[in-house]
Amino acid sequence: MATPDERLRFLLERMVRHLHEFIEETQLTQDEWAAAIEFLTATGKACTPIRQEFVLLSDTLGVSMLVDLLANRGTETATESTVLGPFYVPGSCTRQMGESIAERDGYGDPAFVSGTVKSTAGRPIDGAALDVWQNASNGKYAVQDDQQPEQNLRGKFHTGPDGRFWFWAVRPTDYRIADDGPVGRMLAATGRHPWRPAHIHLKVSALGYRPVTTHLFDDESPYLTTDAVFAVKPSLVCHFERHEPDEPGAPVGCSRTWFSLEHDLVLAEEA
Ligand code: BEZ
Ligand code: FE
Repeated sequence: MATPDERLRFLLERMVRHLHEFIEETQLTQDEWAAAIEFLTATGKACTPIRQEFVLLSDTLGVSMLVDLLANRGTETATESTVLGPFYVPGSCTRQMGESIAERDGYGDPAFVSGTVKSTAGRPIDGAALDVWQNASNGKYAVQDDQQPEQNLRGKFHTGPDGRFWFWAVRPTDYRIADDGPVGRMLAATGRHPWRPAHIHLKVSALGYRPVTTHLFDDESPYLTTDAVFAVKPSLVCHFERHEPDEPGAPVGCSRTWFSLEHDLVLAEEA
């Protein structure tokens, strides 16, 4: 091939070779190939500014997790990474430590999330940025739901010299990925459910360290072993401690059960 870009040439050569091998190995028929083209066409047509069906396809085929695994080799002693997902929106507002990312009540049970951002050597990291986002108890992220304020259940926090972080969120709830399009058809055809185990998303970064995109999963979710996008890693499964409304530390005016989670975040030094 005359492709001047060496990496592109390599990727295209391998892709075409594997694609041809796949067709030969499976003895793909003309009808099956037409169905595949129809499926990919429908996947493209399902994409909108707030829905990326190709990302969902990559996630549900386990491709996103494999690419993530390759990208994060060599950081085994740091907090493990997992998929970004389609609902990350850059530009979350900066919040004060201790603030709630829930802009009002009614999005779930309050959960106090805290910990220390530290290096793999155990040193607290000053000035680490935590970008946090999660879904409401109706299963939707603010970006998908015009009933929620734009900045609801998302926010950016910055650590001080002790590396500590603390903020209020809601105890995460399981939710279904969009299954009313081609990816949903694929899941149904293969007997898979569309559920994701309850989680909070985090992007953590600091000068001189490798950033990590990760989740904190709730250990009581029934979907931990069958996540529709294969994103669960045992080290990311956490326990949300249950508290009664009158226990010390409850949010002001709280009349319901609340939860707390203490979980440290570890960053690997930049190579
Ligand atoms: C999410 O966790 O936001 C997500 C990840 C992959 C696919 C769909 C949703
Ligand atoms: Fe999510």
